[in-house]
Amino acid sequence: MKIGVVGLGYVGLVTAAVLANHDNEVIGIDVSTERVNKLNSNNLPIFEPELGNRIESAGSRLKFSTDYSDLAECSGVFICVPTPNNEAGIDLSFVVAASKEVSKVVPKSELIIKSTVTPGTARHISNLTGMNVTSNPEFTREGSAVYDTEHPDRIVVGGNDPQVCKDVWKFTNAPTIITTNENAELIKYASNAFLATKITFINQMADLCEKIPGADVKIVAHGIGLDHRIGKEFLKPGLGYGGSCFPKDTIALNSYANSKDVKLDIIDSVIRYNSDRINQLVEKIIRLAGDLNDRNICVLGLSFKDNTDDLRESRSIALIENLSKRGAKIFAYDPIVKQYPGIVQCNSSEECIMKCSIVITATEWEEFRSIDPVLFKDKMVFDLRRILSIKPDDITMGVGIGKD
Ligand code: UGA
Repeated sequence: MKIGVVGLGYVGLVTAAVLANHDNEVIGIDVSTERVNKLNSNNLPIFEPELGNRIESAGSRLKFSTDYSDLAECSGVFICVPTPNNEAGIDLSFVVAASKEVSKVVPKSELIIKSTVTPGTARHISNLTGMNVTSNPEFTREGSAVYDTEHPDRIVVGGNDPQVCKDVWKFTNAPTIITTNENAELIKYASNAFLATKITFINQMADLCEKIPGADVKIVAHGIGLDHRIGKEFLKPGLGYGGSCFPKDTIALNSYANSKDVKLDIIDSVIRYNSDRINQLVEKIIRLAGDLNDRNICVLGLSFKDNTDDLRESRSIALIENLSKRGAKIFAYDPIVKQYPGIVQCNSSEECIMKCSIVITATEWEEFRSIDPVLFKDKMVFDLRRILSIKPDDITMGVGIGKD
């Protein structure tokens, strides 16, 4: 089948590369000439494990262009452009603009919306363009997007005639939900909001554990996660959720519900807690470590999560900004992100730790797990990601984030 993908960010590029490895001829469209030129000269614009391999193995079945007319003869076109928030709620202008362009070239093809959009959007786009519009939200995580796309828990397909969308994902053998556009659109928001709630819940349990001698949130999380009704995923306490999806989607869902005169108290509280979490953690560090002015602080990890170079809504960056405002001098090391203004970038975690008296883990990179505990001698360690192999006795004080 000839398939189009509009928008070559994390979602679009991965979708295009995976589909081109499964009997499709795929044309990827992006408005950014720079991005398309990079891709056409075999340079990846983003870091994502396995993506380069999939693009390479797709060979001539995958092409990139800035010209919408290259979509001619596509049976289906995926819309994978951003849906940022604005003051009024979700900004659908990119989705609308891309869909209109597609409808000029292939009005009879299936328009498949992968971008995260509020319920009613597919119907609206169908009215605007006259096209058969299918909703097909994605549930892939950055850092494992290729794996998630090839091995999804489920495929959600919403629409009146979603034949192309159903066919292209058949190779995954995943359970497929065929439903209305609105259900599909809401399943995406409800999933992200639920996961953000789960993270917030465990962060609040971590706050409580830190007040109880003998309590350890990691063990509590393990204990509740073994209940299959709860599940063990997304129970890792940390700096709060970041990235390009959860912060944006929880806010969009909230304002969408408000527009329907429905108050989502739980989501409201999740958003408030998460946006205050960094400040709460810094206040706690100050309580334990004292004034931060002129102190050298080592921050391990800059990206919003491991296995990505994405800094959007990175909790580590929010933490660094907060610490810097309090006069701290920041030294940072990240396995992939090598530049960020206003900080001293180190070449290794070892170099970074040696230069500082306070050490903070901010991103859950695998390599931090094996840092030699000897390096932490005489340092104050705030293992906000709870990944270091140190015991409270190994350091002067403050493993985990330390008891109050
Ligand atoms: C998230 C969802 O997991 C995907 O299913 C969804 O498709 C995607 O958003 C999207 O809407 O496009 P992503 O933002 O890439 O994926 O990353 P996650 O692995 O979900 O992590 C999000 C944030 O939560 C990160 O800041 C991470 O550090 C934090 N997190 C995650 C925790 O603090 N604890 C956890 O247990 C899990």
